[in-house]
Amino acid sequence: MEIIRCANQTHMADQVAGFFRDLAQRALREKGWWSLALCGGMTPRHLYERLSCAEYARGIAWSATHIFFGDERCVPPTHEASNYRMAWDLFLSRVLPPETNVHRIRGECTSADDEARRYEEDMKAFFMPREGGIAGGFPVFDLIVLGIGPDGHTASLFPGDPMLEERERWAVAVVAPHGYEPPRRITMTLPVINHAKNVFFLVAGARKAAVFRDILNTPDAARIRYPAARVRARERTVWFVDADAVGI
Ligand code: 6PG
Repeated sequence: MEIIRCANQTHMADQVAGFFRDLAQRALREKGWWSLALCGGMTPRHLYERLSCAEYARGIAWSATHIFFGDERCVPPTHEASNYRMAWDLFLSRVLPPETNVHRIRGECTSADDEARRYEEDMKAFFMPREGGIAGGFPVFDLIVLGIGPDGHTASLFPGDPMLEERERWAVAVVAPHGYEPPRRITMTLPVINHAKNVFFLVAGARKAAVFRDILNTPDAARIRYPAARVRARERTVWFVDADAVGI
């Protein structure tokens, strides 16, 4: 595991934004475009705000940046629980990638399964024509940003959910366990996440200390118990962890 220890969430945002910008610039130099998937929750808020600052935003060609979402809640894009709305309010509305570069999961859908299938077709339409866009039958994202729940979920892949074992589809509809609102969600599947070149995990807060410690100290057992522990990007899986989550 590649671990970057951060003093606090502000420091984490700076660290991740630097890695993000470097990765984007390298990909843009190599192939002229790059793709990423954003996550929801509270942890990435500082990062999204940081990325919209000139220090980082100016260094990235947003017109060649293609933005997807690792998961979405089944709510309209204007809803306060929408992952898209959070990214738009804090980040995308300020860097303004072309509208066609932002691949939203349509949380306002009536059928989550239909929308998961539409989102899969949207990803296929983007990645299949591109050189290097597909490997092993799955899309090759340059970067997927993920959070982790205290139960070890990531995206909307929750412990014990049969969809964790999905090996064909790229996106599926799930129902989050009790306590995770709103429950109806659409999520990328584990094979999509694991075919990404790079994954950045953002881990902040004392609530994540136990699960992070388990993943660090007992990885084999953690892989059975926690979806996040089963993430292995093709090149780098970088865990950005603040002091509270490290437990110091
Ligand atoms: C979501 C996220 C989810 C999130 C974790 C951690 O849609 O909620 O994709 O996987 O990253 O639940 O959330 P916090 O950052 O709020 O702790």
